[in-house]
Amino acid sequence: MIRVVIDPTYECFRDRARELLSANIPPAEVIWTDRDASQFSLLQQESIPAAAPKTIDVPRRYVELAKLVYAHSHPECWHMLYSVLWRILHGDRNLLSVHIDSDVLRLNHMRQEIARDVHHMHAFLRFRRIERNSEEWFVAWYKPDHHVLRLAVPFFVDRFATMRWAILTPEESGSWDGIHLNFGPGVPASEAPTDDSLETLWSTYYRTTFNPARMNLELMRQEMPARFWTHMPELQQLSNVIAEVPARLEAMDRQQATSVTVPDSRDLTILRDAASRCTGCDICRDATQTVFGEGSPHAQVVLVGEQPGDVEDTQGRPFVGPAGDVLRRAMEEAGITREDVYMTNAVKHFKFTRQGKRRIHQTARMSEVIACKPWLEAELDAIRPKAIVLLGSTAAKSLLGSTVRITRDAGKIYRTRYAAHTIISVHPSFVLRSSDDTQSRAVYQRLVDDLRSVRCFVRSTKSEIHSSTAEQLSNSPSVPSLERISSRTR
Ligand code: URA
Repeated sequence: MIRVVIDPTYECFRDRARELLSANIPPAEVIWTDRDASQFSLLQQESIPAAAPKTIDVPRRYVELAKLVYAHSHPECWHMLYSVLWRILHGDRNLLSVHIDSDVLRLNHMRQEIARDVHHMHAFLRFRRIERNSEEWFVAWYKPDHHVLRLAVPFFVDRFATMRWAILTPEESGSWDGIHLNFGPGVPASEAPTDDSLETLWSTYYRTTFNPARMNLELMRQEMPARFWTHMPELQQLSNVIAEVPARLEAMDRQQATSVTVPDSRDLTILRDAASRCTGCDICRDATQTVFGEGSPHAQVVLVGEQPGDVEDTQGRPFVGPAGDVLRRAMEEAGITREDVYMTNAVKHFKFTRQGKRRIHQTARMSEVIACKPWLEAELDAIRPKAIVLLGSTAAKSLLGSTVRITRDAGKIYRTRYAAHTIISVHPSFVLRSSDDTQSRAVYQRLVDDLRSVRCFVRSTKSEIHSSTAEQLSNSPSVPSLERISSRTR
């Protein structure tokens, strides 16, 4: 018998299996042991007899199956994978099509369990916000039934490409710093962060996107075993939310009561109407009204600002105050008219403090930006523009994450899930706030240049290009939604 000690990864299994097959060692002569288990039993790998590597032609179907099943926690997982591989390569080439074969049945069943475990991780894992070296991180501790972290993380990279996050499991942890995905040792439950500041954020986000009409409690109970409920802060308030359901449904039916729901519809008129009642964060309490985006639903360019200012709050329209004047001038110079674009903001209410009669603008917190993001995403989904101009830090952080720095990143262009050409630019109010004329002129010129580059991009692309690119990106879970295209030289 040969004992093979294995790191629980698909690649390690593949390499050991190759060596065993080259040495012609049948499954019955191999004992497979996970490296973690061997630390306790002090078992050592016995060397696989050296043999000239053989070319091994493994059917793609087997590789796809093995790339999922390897993550199963069943102690015989490796043995079963190797046995089936051995049979495939020794006369049973089409074994995987024999669905009633007991080995194939077991592997297919394991595959289903893995898919379910990955789905649970995607659906039920919840991040908590923590500060590390004055950086914002979102951290989750989660215990899957199987070793599915690596299978589950591409979804999070795609979904939260713009945030820094870490997922800790007892066996392994994975972290994403906005650029790189790294894996490290596991973390026991006792070391998982307990700071509950993210609870509020999640609860807000959840309530903003929560649609009581979609709620099916029976299905929810079937789909969500009770043990997952403890991971989900919003479920701590589920009883409140459930209690609200009848009233909220009634309110939706009457189409008049307070609603914080982002509708499924991608009709801008419907979205605007729903947003006018949004109470997803506290800013709405003091603001006069929601200032929703404005412009053609067929606009090829969307300009995203920070939040309405004093004038916008009063008039209920974006960019109609002093910053809007600067923006309009820059657009004219770049050859873009207001009719060409859709204008909106990352945050739809005016946040301010009072100083006597004056209302002084206050920058929105990231939690408020995130609470408002479903509205911005719904607008972008409705319009599907070719290009987006992110005017200033808040807009850029909303779509590209909190790591963005305008001083460093203005002028950078990304392919995002929202548009093929997403450019970070300066906010027009920066032109007004600049300390001297030279700086003010330079900032203004930068804005004009960015708008010009967008105009050139839109002109140079045919209308099909954007939709096919967007489809390609969103269909591929392994492709991060953020891809840097270029940095314009100035
Ligand atoms: N500043 C913004 O960011 N948006 C507006 O609508 C007005 C000023």
